[in-house]
Amino acid sequence: MIFKLTEEQLAVRNAARDFAQTELLPGVIDRDEKQEFPTAQIKKLGELGFMGMMTAPEYGGGGMDAMSYVLAMEEISKVDASVSVCMSVNNSLVCWGLEHFGNEEQKQKYLKPLASGEKIGAFCLSEPEAGSDATFQQTTAEDHGDHYILNGTKNWITNGNSASIYLVIAQTDKAKKHKGINVLIVEKGMEGFVVGKKENKMGIRASDTHSLMFQNVKVPKANRIGDDGFGFSFAMQTLNGGRIGIASQALGIASGAYERALAYSQERKAFGVPIFEHQDVQFKLADMATRIEASRLLCLKAAWLKDQGKDYSQASAMAKLYSSKTAMDVTTEAVQIHGGYGFVKEFHVERMMRDAKITQIYEGTSEIQKIVIARGLFK
Ligand code: CAA
Repeated sequence: MIFKLTEEQLAVRNAARDFAQTELLPGVIDRDEKQEFPTAQIKKLGELGFMGMMTAPEYGGGGMDAMSYVLAMEEISKVDASVSVCMSVNNSLVCWGLEHFGNEEQKQKYLKPLASGEKIGAFCLSEPEAGSDATFQQTTAEDHGDHYILNGTKNWITNGNSASIYLVIAQTDKAKKHKGINVLIVEKGMEGFVVGKKENKMGIRASDTHSLMFQNVKVPKANRIGDDGFGFSFAMQTLNGGRIGIASQALGIASGAYERALAYSQERKAFGVPIFEHQDVQFKLADMATRIEASRLLCLKAAWLKDQGKDYSQASAMAKLYSSKTAMDVTTEAVQIHGGYGFVKEFHVERMMRDAKITQIYEGTSEIQKIVIARGLFK
């Protein structure tokens, strides 16, 4: 086993780090406060090739490996998790899904602008009554020969308003259960497609999370990805990779909070010495650093398996389960180390603590990750 990153991987990490420090750090507190979508920042991220990192260059992507994606996600998330969730959904769920399961026409028309960062995509699975139980789709895609008629509501959709291309999961044949589900490419502007209310969230407040309504939307059959009934399998397979993205986001939130707490512990004095001299603070930082390192190894292992073409469903669930708990615990400790300063916005760690929570919820709750892990134990 070789624990060494390649020159290319290190270059990607450095580029993402520079971008996060120069382009994202200024204004991150303000965007969170105002719930302002980072339009200009996402545009620049796209120009640098980070919105379609793993997509082949012939489709406008960066042609990078999944390990580079983990490194970039960590650096971006250290500073701004609202930006990194947009990046993660576009890369792992939308571009990856289209590249691996879309046909050539769909790739030319939809993947190219998404991977090059010209357009943003959204992945629409969750519904008011179908979150963890993803088979319980109430949105319907009725088969009308050369097109589908789409009806229903989707909830909690990341990039809900900023996107212009949506991958929508819907039930075509209820009797076939999960094998009767399809995935359709829906464009903003199609008649009957309405972007609903924007959620006022606890964390990742600058990202735009919306409900979406589909009222008799006519979607050409050419916009179906894969064969009839492939939609549920599509969702499960893309989510396996999406979980690497969110695990890396959680890792980045944790390491961002840890770095701030470590620096603060050397600057802040109490009882006549920098607080780092107090063993209690050392113990906290040692635990934080150890858990971050373990999270990083789990994320990179899942990405490595993906790059090798091996099964990574269990590894990505383990990475997400562990890294998201680490993010929650490490950010809470970072606030504690900062004391009263940790509770005010200027010191960043309170935002990171709020942002951390969602990583235990979206792209499958921690309980869902345990189900995926447990099912893999007997394989
Ligand atoms: N990878 C590949 N295939 C999988 C899979 C996985 N991880 N999990 C299940 N499948 C396949 C099974 O092999 C099975 O296929 P066959 O019928 O061909 O054998 C099929 O899917 C059905 O499997 P199950 O019977 O196991 O399905 P289930 O109803 O018991 O549910 C579940 C499985 C794992 C709980 C699934 O429903 C699930 O992952 N739920 C969570 C959904 C989720 O993550 N939602 C997040 C929304 S997206 C989001 O948050 C994006 C965002 O905006 C940030």
